[in-house]
Amino acid sequence: MKYALSFLAVIALVVIAWLGSQIPGFQYIFGVFFPYVAIMLFVGGFVYRIVQWAKTPVPFSIQTTCGQGKSLDFIKHNKLEAPHTTTQVVARMALEILTFRSLFRNTHAEMHDGPKITYESSKWLWLFAIVFHYSFLLIVLRHMRFFLEPVPVLISALDWIDGFYSIGNPTWYITDAGIVAGVAFLFARRIYNSKVRYISLLNDYFPLVLLFAIAISGILMRYFLRTDVDITAIKQLAVGIVTLQPTIQVELGAIFYIHLFLVCVLAAYFPWSKLMHMGGVFMSPTRNMKNNSREVRHINPWNPRILPHSYAGYEDEFREYMVEAGLPVEKELPPKKDEE
Ligand code: HEM
Repeated sequence: MKYALSFLAVIALVVIAWLGSQIPGFQYIFGVFFPYVAIMLFVGGFVYRIVQWAKTPVPFSIQTTCGQGKSLDFIKHNKLEAPHTTTQVVARMALEILTFRSLFRNTHAEMHDGPKITYESSKWLWLFAIVFHYSFLLIVLRHMRFFLEPVPVLISALDWIDGFYSIGNPTWYITDAGIVAGVAFLFARRIYNSKVRYISLLNDYFPLVLLFAIAISGILMRYFLRTDVDITAIKQLAVGIVTLQPTIQVELGAIFYIHLFLVCVLAAYFPWSKLMHMGGVFMSPTRNMKNNSREVRHINPWNPRILPHSYAGYEDEFREYMVEAGLPVEKELPPKKDEE
């Protein structure tokens, strides 16, 4: 039901974009207005979420460790599993972000007769997650050729490497196969794995279907409906959007408006969705804190400011009442004026 709804939602978005591209005058709304709204929502939302996370006090040092923390000199410290300095934290974080290290250690639990439970290595999720994320990153970087004039050498180089096999005309990009395979696996896993299906929500399926539709519309545009789109005019519009002088002079093709509208929806939805793990991973206290709580006192910023109150100070404050109640005091009360 939830995944069917995601499909319906994306189909509705495609129909809206297609209809919009057919109505005279609406091209500006879909080609200029929506992209600007989406950029504002993306940037504004992204910054807002990061600021909210940054402002949230972290009450304890809660780094996740899975190795020996720094201790006495003769006990071997595991620097990557229980990082103790900023450099070690950065090293672990870099491996996590660039290679999805914790996902690589994913295990799969299975019940056997006995009953006996076994934990087996499970690398498929890691593999397809890597394929999907790197394909997505390279596609986005390659798209910079639409927005930048002249196109930087690095972007042209990526374009060349991605089409290295020179299959087809225009050349098929490896990342196009990668993004489709990656998204398809991640989606199929949610459907076929009953445990994952049980915990999956509409917000888990929708971004996958949306990304799939973006990839398919891009692939259609490049390889199958090439004559329907005017790449030069699209580049003119893209550069115009960046330089705040957008123009649409010719018919850009319905498939382009569909592709662009879906990207706008993704951008606007991004900061409010699980996709924010892109920024969130840097803000996660379990990853970005140092395992140094034996050395440095971590003060909970939520604590009220309580000043120290010594016994001497306490007695000074209550001496009179203590004497009156017959309690022993360390310092006698000063003699009264009339006694002097
Ligand atoms: C999340 C962002 C985006 C994703 C994931 C995406 C994905 C794709 C994919 C997979 C293709 C197939 C060919 C290729 O890999 O280059 C493609 C093509 C294309 N995309 Fe995108 N796209 C995105 C954003 C955009 C934007 C903002 C524009 C607006 C300029 C755009 C315009 C195009 C065009 C014109 C093509 C055809 C390219 C060609 O014929 O070589 N895309 N897109």
